[in-house]
Amino acid sequence: MRTPIIAGNWKMNKTAAAAAEFANEIKEALNDIAGVDIVFCPPALTIPAVAAAVAGTKIGVGAQNMHYEESGAYTGELAANMLTPFCQYVILGHSERREYFGETDEGVNKKIKTALAHGLTPIVCVGESLTQNEAGETHSFVSGQVTAAFAGLTAADVALCVIAYEPIWAIGTGKSASAEQAGAIIGQTVRGTIANLFGAATAALVRIQYGGSANEKNIADYMQQPDIDGALVGGASLKATFVQLVQNAVV
Ligand code: PGA
Repeated sequence: MRTPIIAGNWKMNKTAAAAAEFANEIKEALNDIAGVDIVFCPPALTIPAVAAAVAGTKIGVGAQNMHYEESGAYTGELAANMLTPFCQYVILGHSERREYFGETDEGVNKKIKTALAHGLTPIVCVGESLTQNEAGETHSFVSGQVTAAFAGLTAADVALCVIAYEPIWAIGTGKSASAEQAGAIIGQTVRGTIANLFGAATAALVRIQYGGSANEKNIADYMQQPDIDGALVGGASLKATFVQLVQNAVV
């Protein structure tokens, strides 16, 4: 019922030339994979080149961040209407943005509203730190992040969003959460919180990804979990083996 979605978060990797070359290298093989939505999220300055490369394919393009204001004196930032000519998606509240760039739940909430107002699909990131995980705080913390992110939204708007559950301790560490662990938190905590706040029907519609050292070898395990609808992939989205990852997500 929910179409799986695999998004590659390229983070701060690849120049425009390298990004377009990589997109061209893998786009046809990805375009042939049915039953899954595929998104490239390249660095902001490379977005036009990547969007041009994937034009005419099923591959969507997403930004890695966006400001919530429409325009103004926000040095270094990008507004939604600068993204919409090229992008259908935008990653919001990634843990690296929260940790290194001071993003708050309130800011993420405003960004989600702005993205939706411009027809962009937000990929909203949540996830606990290792300390919180070890202290048994995962459920309360992640549930709180979900509640804050979607405050003031309608159920219809929430259903349009994608959520990525990314335990911070699993990002870029090679220490992925087990499929059972991730499936349980995504089902009970993330989808459960959406159900409590917006109803079971909305919770059944919203797509929730796992993120954190997902790769072509472990993706099939995650996809077997009924509540996991895909992955937000960092390191493993930078190589041609990303095609294999997407293939393994749908078998
Ligand atoms: P990773 O990154 O796959 O390299 O762990 C995931 C992410 O940060 O979205």
